[in-house]
Amino acid sequence: MCGIVGYVGTRQAAPILLDGLSRLEYRGYDSAGIAVRDEENEHVEVVKAKGRLKNLMEMTDSGHAVRGTCGVGHTRWATHGEPSTINAHPHYSREKRVVVVHNGIIENYQDIKDMLVRKGYAFRTQTDTEAAALLLDSYYTEAGKKGLGPRERALDAIRNMMIRVRGSYALGILFGDQPGVMYATRKDSPLIIGRCDGEMRGHMIASDVPAVLSYTRNVVYIDNLEIACLTQEEMRVYNIDCEQIDKAFVEIKWDAASAEKDGYEHFMIKEIHEQPRAVRDTLSPRIKEREDGQKCLDLSELELPDEELAGVSRVYLIGCGSAYHVGTAARTVIERLAHIPCEVDLASEFRYRDPILEPRGLVIIISQSGETADSLAALRLCRERGMRTLAIVNVVGSSIAREADAVMYTWAGPEISVATTKAYSTQLAAIYLIATKLAAVRGQISPEREQQLIEDMLALPDKIERVLSDKERVQWYANKMAACKDVFFIGRGLDHAISLEGSLKLKEISYIHSEAYAAGELKHGTISLIEDGVLVVGVATQPDLFEKVVSNMVEVRSRGAYLFGLTTYGQYAIEDTVNFTVYVPRTEPLFATSLAVVPLQLLAYYISCAKGLDVDKPRNLAKSVTVE
Ligand code: AGP
Repeated sequence: MCGIVGYVGTRQAAPILLDGLSRLEYRGYDSAGIAVRDEENEHVEVVKAKGRLKNLMEMTDSGHAVRGTCGVGHTRWATHGEPSTINAHPHYSREKRVVVVHNGIIENYQDIKDMLVRKGYAFRTQTDTEAAALLLDSYYTEAGKKGLGPRERALDAIRNMMIRVRGSYALGILFGDQPGVMYATRKDSPLIIGRCDGEMRGHMIASDVPAVLSYTRNVVYIDNLEIACLTQEEMRVYNIDCEQIDKAFVEIKWDAASAEKDGYEHFMIKEIHEQPRAVRDTLSPRIKEREDGQKCLDLSELELPDEELAGVSRVYLIGCGSAYHVGTAARTVIERLAHIPCEVDLASEFRYRDPILEPRGLVIIISQSGETADSLAALRLCRERGMRTLAIVNVVGSSIAREADAVMYTWAGPEISVATTKAYSTQLAAIYLIATKLAAVRGQISPEREQQLIEDMLALPDKIERVLSDKERVQWYANKMAACKDVFFIGRGLDHAISLEGSLKLKEISYIHSEAYAAGELKHGTISLIEDGVLVVGVATQPDLFEKVVSNMVEVRSRGAYLFGLTTYGQYAIEDTVNFTVYVPRTEPLFATSLAVVPLQLLAYYISCAKGLDVDKPRNLAKSVTVE
């Protein structure tokens, strides 16, 4: 949700800002803008454009036309106020005394606006952000009367603004009368600082690491309610009491190339192809070989003693979107293997349902970005209630990773496409590890079964590779089906969890209406929607439910549905019922989700391509949902 970049240093700022923003466009892309302080003419130049970043690039000759070495930039995902040039960030006060870019939501902006209007401030936009900019201006004016120096005055204004506003924010701030200084602060929206050395000496701020990776690998994570003051030479960080605090730089191990398309047409298809590597990287460091040649799980990174895991009375699985779908699959895997009752919740529902939590329960929060507002709020609620929390997260150092008691990182690498693929697959892999560990410490599986499960996990990357090798068939089929209007995905048990994900993938990038149903539930209402030519994707990877799903497919076929069957090699009887079949390799049935999801990702991808849509940046969506 919105991307922020800032730079202060020796080089021209605008090209760096635009380059950084191009790596953050996945966070929002309905308008963009930059503000750069032109030292020669002593004013702040603001340029904004509606639509994709390329419009702003064209207006500014990729930034070269905007002078100055200190500036902030923003790519927007609209919350308050329609996508338009006027509502695009940066927002600023009279004579650009205060200029801000913002990611998040100022919840009490209307109160603040009313108060500022009474004081004589005029508002130009419909955004909540303008309230923060003008509030800062008002506090900056008051601080000026206290006889403070420039830095103390800015800190005082920022601190008072932080106390006054409710909601979430990451802010990049320039004060018109402070050349060569950039401020930043955050609460519940991500923001990092990068230190640049050599000929572009200085500092950057950004919503996410890829924006700074071409310039530096040394970053600092700004924590909630901290304020950074940055110049070419100096980085100072303060707490909300304006006391200076020490912050350590972290070295980012992955490089800028990991966030490039690498010859693929889209990030999504690149990331689909990265799944074997990503799953292998997530599994292998946690599987060790003992002296007797047997394999065992090493989850010592979680710092959860075996006795504690053995005593877990219930598992709460919480996430949003695809991460929730992983939770849905995880419920079956954990219940079947470890015999622990599980509950799965959408984070946005969980936080408001006043959940009853068992003291010996384990909460598992699943999130690729580690910044999803609802998931973070659910995590905090659980921690407030004294629950043990474990996060499955992809982005190192993200808020959820830092706030949970334990974290299991998925090693998917940076995921740029809005539609998740490799992060989803690595989350599943993390769940298999945790479920098998829980089962083993509770004595629910024999050592032989544990060995077999580990072998089956380790075989998954090669099997995903095999599924990918059949992608042309899916592509051919997708081209045929690109014009369809409604698609239903049906399955039972784990196949229902796969259906949920397949349906979401299709709707988010192809804009085709689709729904996922538990196959047995169709006849309780939804089957009335089935008519001639409606595409139904039947997922039937679970041997014990195969015949049941096929029966449900027969029911829709007799009402005119056109059938796509997805099952495992060997289940050839499905061909008697369906019009088109895709087979995936056999595996432990509890792990079949990892294979069956791949053709559904490909189906969505190729349909989106056939329709000529923007695969990586679908309309209305953003990669990281940092607002409620
Ligand atoms: C999936 O393709 C979506 N982009 C979306 O549903 C996503 O999974 C959801 O917003 C959760 O994000 P998170 O994993 O970063 O918390």
